[in-house]
Amino acid sequence: MNINQLMAKSQQGDKLSMVTCYDHASARIINQSEVDMILVGDSAAMVMHGETSTLPIDTATMALHTRAVVKGAPNKFIVADMPFMSFRKSLDANMQAVEQLMKTGAHAIKLEGVLGNEALIKHIVQSGVPVMGHLGLTPQSINQFGGFKVQGRDEAAAQAIIDQVKMLQELGAFAVVLECVPSALTARIVSEADIMTIGIGAGPETDGQVLVMHDLLGYPSDFQPKFVRQYLNTEALFKQAFNAFAQDVKSGEFPSEEEGY
Ligand code: KIV
Repeated sequence: MNINQLMAKSQQGDKLSMVTCYDHASARIINQSEVDMILVGDSAAMVMHGETSTLPIDTATMALHTRAVVKGAPNKFIVADMPFMSFRKSLDANMQAVEQLMKTGAHAIKLEGVLGNEALIKHIVQSGVPVMGHLGLTPQSINQFGGFKVQGRDEAAAQAIIDQVKMLQELGAFAVVLECVPSALTARIVSEADIMTIGIGAGPETDGQVLVMHDLLGYPSDFQPKFVRQYLNTEALFKQAFNAFAQDVKSGEFPSEEEGY
């Protein structure tokens, strides 16, 4: 799927679905599904590497994950996340990070926040790279927020988010992820701005929804946000399969004659 097909689908009124993915095997399964987009998110730091925030992951690791996903999902629109601080250095260093991610075969990059990134976003777009913004709860600013908290609850904060969505639109971003904002604020954004919106914990009004793959598949997790809907209990299914294998090995049931040479 290319950006024109994606935008056309959205403009027809089709709600878009996006999931995160970080590995080749899962990407191959998503490639066979009806999901429209894949985000190789910096949430990889937490779900793939066991970190307590998204901050520790670097551009090289994000590029490695993105390349694996690109090879597994040739039919999907793939967005690579710019990790913490990778876009807050000199223009040269920022663009090297963009280049590293785009050379994996991704179709777009995503970066958190807009204030202080205005010139960079313009430069990335003018370099031929589609940019997806990310506003509301931006997990790379977790230390400033003091935790994973809903954003834009009071009028001043809500207006600031609306203004930033409009800035992204002006700067040429093709879409924005809205994370953990009240549904009523999302409704205002959708009516006041003209940019594709993808929500996570932002209510039903957005043009599409994104979830972290491991949340929707029911992998083990220490914290389950309210907005997650779990479609599978992978933890239970995996445990069942691992135990069945262990028991078959113990009993001598595995391998059989046919499974040997
Ligand atoms: O990295 C990520 O998974 C994300 C989503 C939460 C949107 O940015």
